[in-house]
This record gives sequence, C-alpha cells and structure tokens, in this order.
Amino acid sequence: SEVYRAGVSGTKPAVPVDGGALERAARRATSAEAFAYLAGGAGAEATMAANRAAFARWQVWPRVLRDVAERDLSIELLGRRRATPFLLSPIGVAELAHADADVAVGRAASALDVPYVLSNQASRPMEEVAAAMGAGSRWFQLYWSASDELNASLLRRAEASGCEAVVVTLDTHVLGWRTRDLDLAFLPFTRGQGIAQYTSDPVFADLVRRRVARDGGGGARPKVTPTLLASALSIARAGAGTRLVEGGVREALRSPLPRAAVETFLDVFSDPSLTWDRLARLREWTSLPVLLKGIVHPDDASRALDVGADGIVVSNHGGRQVDRSVATLDALPAIVERVAGRVPIVLDSGVRGGADAFIALALGATAVGIGRPYAYGLAVAGETGVREVVRNHIAELDLTMALAGHRSIDEIGRDSLRAV
Ligand code: FNR
Repeated sequence: SEVYRAGVSGTKPAVPVDGGALERAARRATSAEAFAYLAGGAGAEATMAANRAAFARWQVWPRVLRDVAERDLSIELLGRRRATPFLLSPIGVAELAHADADVAVGRAASALDVPYVLSNQASRPMEEVAAAMGAGSRWFQLYWSASDELNASLLRRAEASGCEAVVVTLDTHVLGWRTRDLDLAFLPFTRGQGIAQYTSDPVFADLVRRRVARDGGGGARPKVTPTLLASALSIARAGAGTRLVEGGVREALRSPLPRAAVETFLDVFSDPSLTWDRLARLREWTSLPVLLKGIVHPDDASRALDVGADGIVVSNHGGRQVDRSVATLDALPAIVERVAGRVPIVLDSGVRGGADAFIALALGATAVGIGRPYAYGLAVAGETGVREVVRNHIAELDLTMALAGHRSIDEIGRDSLRAV
C-alpha cells in the first residue's frame, strides 16, 4: 500500500509499472544485440507465448468481507522465514542490461529481503556480489561443468561467499536455438561477456594455462592469474584502440590468452552427457541444500526426490531452451501432486506481476522466481530499476491478496482460482 500511495500521489516511478511498457523501455535503453539476448526465446518463441497463455487460463476468484486489514506475505523456505514468496531467478550476462550488472541486482535484492540466485554466467564474480549484498540472502546457480574440479571450485566459492543453497540448472546442457541471437550472430560468451565466474576462478585459470601451453602461442606465455584473465577479456571485449596501460594487460594483449579463455569456457561450460546417477557427486562438493532447476515433467520430479534434492525449480528457462514446449504453469499441478509437500517448489517462466504470482502460489508453488522483468528494470534504471520492479511484484501480490480476501500465503489455494 505504501507503493500504491506513492504511485498515485505524484511520485513518478523510475521504470514503467506496466509490464509491456517496461519491456519497451528496456529495448530503448539497450543495444539491438543486448535486447535480443535478454528478451528472446528459442525458435518461434512458442514456449514463451505458452508460458504467458497458461496464466490466462486461470482467474482469481475474489471473496469479500474477510478482514484483510493485516496481510502477511512471508513464507518458510529452506528452513528460513522469508519476507515474501519471491526470489530473483539467475540471469546471466547482466552486463548487457547495465554496467553495474549483478552488483546492482544484488543490492536491490538485499534491500528488499528477496533471495538472489547468482548466475553461473554472471558478469561479476560471486565474491564481489556477495560483498555488495551484505547479509542479503543469496543462492548460487551452477551449470554442471565438464570439469569436476571446476564444479568443486565454484561450489567451494559459493559456500565461502555465504550462499545458502545451490541451484543446478539442468535445461541448458546445450544452448537453445536462439533465433534472434542467430540472426545477429551474437553469442556474448565468445566476446568474453558473462564468464566472470570462470575468469575469477583459480581452477579455470589453470585450465586456460594448460590450453595456452598446449596450443603454443609464440613467445608470449603469460602466467595466467584470474586478474590477468579478467583484464585480457575486458581488453578483448573493448577491442583495439583501448588506452588501458596496466602492465599485465599489455602482456595479455600480446598473448593468445583471451582466445584460450573463451575456448576453454566453450569446452567446460556444460556436460551434455550428465545423468541422474552422477548428481550424487554434488554431496562430495557441498553440504548446501540443492535445488534442481529446469524440471517440467512429474517423472523427473520423482527422480529429483529419489536423488535427495532439497527443492525443485519448475522452469523452462523462460522459453529460451526448448521451443514448442510445456508451459511451466501447466506443468506445475502434476509436479505438486507428485512432490506432495516433501520439498519446496519454485516456479518461474512467464511471471509478469503479482497477480501471476498469486496464481502460481494457488496452484501449489512454494515460491515464485522473477526473471526478465528485473533484467528490464536493470536496463532502464540500474539498481533503482530492479528495486522498483521487484517491489511492484510484491505490492501487486499484496493488493491481489487483499482484494481476493486472503491474509496470508497459506490461505491462497486452488479454491482461490477459477479455471477459464
Ligand atoms: C536466463 N535464465 C538463466 N537461468 C539459469 O539457470 N542460469 C542463467 O545464467 C540464466 N541466464 C538467463 C539470462 C537471460 C537473459 C534470461 C532472460 C534468462 C533463466 C532464468 O533463470 C529464468 O528461468 C527465466 O528468466 C524465467 O522466465 P521469464 O520470467 O524471464 O519469462
């Protein structure tokens, strides 16, 4: 209600409240390539459309005169009370939206007490984001690398960075058929973008060093350190003509290092041969709770329970991976039934506001992940933009609960909806 009052009393927001207007503002604020990467989906973007269409098949069914003067949006998730049922889904290459990237998102998340899932493809090392977040709740999202040493190292760092949980994303063992990016011949990682988690990693530096040694590269054999890697890549990205003068950078420029780093990334980024039995290795690498992200089939939800997952993220990556796939909201009820309350279920993909979140919660989600909308907020107004977008989701959910006659998240259930 504080948000609503400010909104109707002349305080103009920094980012549009309307979802469509927000996306258009983000388009204006970014390059064609950046916007294509942020907004695009796989193939004909039919999965993206299905994600949205699924919400339209449900309606909130309001009840009146139920004393909703006090509302409580808090939930219990992974053993902790959380102020709201939202979290920020991992979004890689946030530098495409704004130079402050993950640091801005982390600050906003922290300010609103919303957990932030740090991306494996972040633009800033997790240690830097963790420092910016203070006590703010953060989780780490892992893409299962072809290098076990790298997986172990990333998880060690996640623990040291105060991450409360690990989210293993299982729907991106190969990259989706991203039509917009293909048309623009754009893959950020090959330009050294979105690989900060690797270039800040000692195991990755070692892998790059070995590749440079193997491939030769003339007289230049730099001693590869994470700092040097990061400098080399930012130089590679900025292109020729840069006037940075750091000694290490000059050394890097004379070496095949940026190319070796990118090639090493492409080698180790994922392991498409991964199977359920190998997930057990996670327990050797970390004692943190593990959530599996990218599950849309109830049988996979069962297998997740079998391997001891501590949570499930019902997600189709915002329609960026498999085109003509199942909408997450359509997949949710069967998964909720199968899981039967044993572990929490987070839903993302297609959530565009508080009323959408209400529907997902009513169909049995424990919590809801915000994706592209916060990236758009970041593009339009940096940290402030993210804060406003997330706050708007919370405020709209609060008002929806009040107007539908619900005082707490627990009261939102299947009876709160009508199927269209
Ligand atoms: C993502 N997503 C994602 N997921 C993940 O596990 N690791 C990642 O690095 C990324 N990176 C990423 C970049 C961009 C630009 C987008 C839009 C998405 C998927 C993300 O976590 C989430 O599942 C979707 O964004 C949810 O869908 P909506 O809400 O964006 O439609």
